[in-house]
Amino acid sequence: MFLALKALACKAKRPSYFMCVLFFSSTAKKEDIKLSVCKLLNRHNIVFGDYTWTEFDEPFLTRNVQSVSIVDTELKPIDLSACALALHIFQLNEDGPSSENLEEETENIIAANHWVLPAAEFHGLWDSLVYDVEIKSHLLDYVMTTLLFSDKNVDSNLITWNRVVLLHGPPGTGKTSLCKALAQKLTIRLSSRYRYGQLIEINSHSLFSKWFSESGKLVTRMFQKIQELIDDKEALVFVLIDEVESLAAARSACRAGAEPSDAIRVVNAVLTQIDQIKRHSNVVILTTSNITEKIDVAFVDRADIKQYIGPPSAAAIFKIYLSCLEELMKCQIIYPRQQLLTLRELEMIGFIENNVSKLSLLLSEISRKSEGLSGRVLRKLPFLAHALYIQAPSVTIEGFLQALSLAVDKQFEEKKKLSAYL
Ligand SMILES: Nc1ncnc2c1ncn2[C@@H]1O[C@H](COP(=O)(O)OP(=O)(O)O)[C@@H](O)[C@H]1O
Ligand SMILES: [Mg+2]
Repeated sequence: MFLALKALACKAKRPSYFMCVLFFSSTAKKEDIKLSVCKLLNRHNIVFGDYTWTEFDEPFLTRNVQSVSIVDTELKPIDLSACALALHIFQLNEDGPSSENLEEETENIIAANHWVLPAAEFHGLWDSLVYDVEIKSHLLDYVMTTLLFSDKNVDSNLITWNRVVLLHGPPGTGKTSLCKALAQKLTIRLSSRYRYGQLIEINSHSLFSKWFSESGKLVTRMFQKIQELIDDKEALVFVLIDEVESLAAARSACRAGAEPSDAIRVVNAVLTQIDQIKRHSNVVILTTSNITEKIDVAFVDRADIKQYIGPPSAAAIFKIYLSCLEELMKCQIIYPRQQLLTLRELEMIGFIENNVSKLSLLLSEISRKSEGLSGRVLRKLPFLAHALYIQAPSVTIEGFLQALSLAVDKQFEEKKKLSAYL
């Protein structure tokens, strides 16, 4: 009630989003939680950027709530007394993925993984992905509009849109992760409309099993199961078809050859099934491709939004490293804790070196020389730095940054050696 009034009073275009994660064991009523969380928020005036509360004065919150976060602020200060609040209260599903197997006599190939959302496994994934431009918010806005148009039954003869997203770019840039994080985020954002989310990740490679002739039928069988999930109109269903280039490769190989093979039957079965399920308003199809040139036009044409995802810039790398260092300080592997400046703070002081800025400047230098490495490699580097050059239970931040710098150099050396074979 209180929140609704606040929302009415405010003319802000977008509300500020709050996520309240309940303990899995909590049986508290959402209404009661909402009241207590509002009280908590009312004690604060302004928050600067995303923020998470994990400790509470009120025992009721301590018992039931794992965390309350303000999210997607784009690092702008938020005046809690004047903004419209959107509060999402939910529990995380802790079951982990279940696999859909394509069973065939003695063979057993995992063709798909299946999660019920929001899943504990994807908590925090959205925030961990760093991009320079507003890729994440654009994707989110796009799918929100798609679902709104679908939900309101906008006449698709007059305005056309699809429910298919394609992310393409080099490997290791976070495409698969972004799809999963997007599914989780949308499930939370739309929790008043859909009770839960379903994410089915189809492994494109596994569709080309050695018993090709059977694959067409298996694809149909798998999509029948997906259709059953779609039939529950309280569920928002995400179908992730990862690395569609393997399907495209099969088709072009086939075009080159003389007769249509079983491979093309599989691909055609997938395309037919996609066309079937994308008609339903509670479906979003997410596809990824690592090889931009080789994506089949059949997939490109079906996607409304085609988003290139590239390797991170030095600024994004700085943020990724900063989050890694934060985590290592939290776990006390880097000790003692030291405050590092953000890139924006460094800019504000004109990159002048002093006692406060020294370490952050070093990090910015390491970030610059890391340009060209993929997000996947960057997230591994702090581990490699420790394993190769530290090996002690704890290290100072200076020591760690030196090790990180060496690990970056080594990474480029390895890359050079590997490219010699190609
Ligand atoms: N832009 C990024 N920001 C932060 N982490 C990233 C980024 N890109 C990749 N990663 C890291 O690399 C991991 C693997 O990425 P993945 O989604 O498999 O990439 P892709 O599907 O493009 O090959 C992610 O889980 C994440 O830890
Ligand atoms: Mg991938």
